[in-house]
Amino acid sequence: MIIKSAEFVKSSGKWQDCPLPDLPEYAFIGRSNVGKSSLINGMLHRKDLAKTSQTPGKTQLINHFLINENWYLTDLPGYGYARVSKSLRKDFEKLITNYILQRKNLVNLFVLIDSRHAPQKIDLEFIEWCGENGIPFSIVFTKADKLKPAVAVANVEHYQNELLKAWEDLPETYLTSAEKREGTDEILKFITKTNEFLHKNHVNFD
Ligand code: GTP
Ligand code: MG
Repeated sequence: MIIKSAEFVKSSGKWQDCPLPDLPEYAFIGRSNVGKSSLINGMLHRKDLAKTSQTPGKTQLINHFLINENWYLTDLPGYGYARVSKSLRKDFEKLITNYILQRKNLVNLFVLIDSRHAPQKIDLEFIEWCGENGIPFSIVFTKADKLKPAVAVANVEHYQNELLKAWEDLPETYLTSAEKREGTDEILKFITKTNEFLHKNHVNFD
């Protein structure tokens, strides 16, 4: 897919304030600092469209971007950010889970996982929650440039084996680097294919 246009639409503090759900929407989710905003920029070939930071907890609202005037990409706040109060963390979790459960036009969630780490409980629990709630999702491993290629691949396999303990089938998986812009075209390809399918089948979200 060629990115002809990518514009920031708005930031919303709750799902009810998001743009009208009239176009297919794809969202990036994952732990704070996993690289959601960076990967969005890498994928769209835009430097600073989504705000990034070395300090976890940068993205605190639901940010909508309109791509090629025909689909939305959403940058969500990270979950599991330890350095905020428990009640604030609960507020973020609520914001995220309400958005995921209520957003009518959400077609697929990309769950980002840091490729450097062994499977973490918080991510596995989130993935399980997606399954329980019938949320379509893919898994995107991030920051692959920080590892030797063979180690990155081995970590992905290890993760998949962990998932196979609970899942019969594995979701689509991508190994990416925002820094090197790797794996992002594959994600765009998936989005193109899905948009074409929705169009062909006259799916609208009203
Ligand atoms: P929150 O908005 O706080 O939830 O974080 P986020 O998931 O949006 O992460 P963000 O994109 O802000 O990136 C966090 C840090 O990781 C930044 O310092 C990025 O430069 C770095 N980073 C993100 N992706 C990559 C990558 O692919 N390679 C490398 N080397 N660093 C990355
Ligand atoms: Mg962010």
